[in-house]
Amino acid sequence: MRMRKKKNGAARIAACSELLIASPELLKDGFGGIFPKDQPVHLEIGCGKGNFACGMAQKYPDVNFVALERVADVCCIALEKAKRSADEREGDNIRFMITDAAMLADNLPEHSIDCIYLNFSDPWPKAGHAKRRLTHRRFLEIYKKLLKPDGILKFKTDNVGLFDFSLEEFEQFGTELLFVTRDLHSEECAADNVMTEYEKNFSEKGFTINSAWIKFKA
Ligand SMILES: C[S@@+](CC[C@H](N)C(=O)[O-])C[C@H]1O[C@@H](n2cnc3c(N)ncnc32)[C@H](O)[C@@H]1O
Repeated sequence: MRMRKKKNGAARIAACSELLIASPELLKDGFGGIFPKDQPVHLEIGCGKGNFACGMAQKYPDVNFVALERVADVCCIALEKAKRSADEREGDNIRFMITDAAMLADNLPEHSIDCIYLNFSDPWPKAGHAKRRLTHRRFLEIYKKLLKPDGILKFKTDNVGLFDFSLEEFEQFGTELLFVTRDLHSEECAADNVMTEYEKNFSEKGFTINSAWIKFKA
């Protein structure tokens, strides 16, 4: 996501510091020192402006949500959204990290995550950029390490090219496909779906949403 450099970005992020996991050091003993309640942890990678993470944290107070975004100015918007909506949440159950997904294996404890969400990840359409796609096997390797043995990865995208590539990567890497659809909003489970900014935008333009849920084989 491109964004003009924010004035006072660092100060605005600092004003939301209670919602930010500012250093991986804070996670060396797991999530105990981060969230007041010991409950399942779900991770969104590439959270953008934070609609999905904030909506999920409000809907599921019994889950702790960590939302990751590599662009600080974008995460700033998500942090401010989460701070503004704090009163609407039953739990103190959302935190943000400003880092790249490639660093996750160094930053989060192994087998500590119950569910990972990849929502409308950048498609990187050029073949030479395939390694940057968040469903490339080099990232799947990281997600497998982070997820608990029964953990699930849930992926949604408007982009058919990225979706087809991802289904192939999932199969070749050794995962079990739990659910797949080319039109998420027409499925029964859509009743529980929390939309992201991109999802709202693309579905309003008439695009259908592709989605797959996978589990890693042992
Ligand atoms: C196309 S936007 C989608 C935003 C949001 N998930 C949505 O659906 O509205 C992709 C987001 O993922 C972030 N992103 C891309 N690659 C990333 C990476 N390797 N690590 C962390 N965030 C990443 C981008 O900065 C951008 O904000």
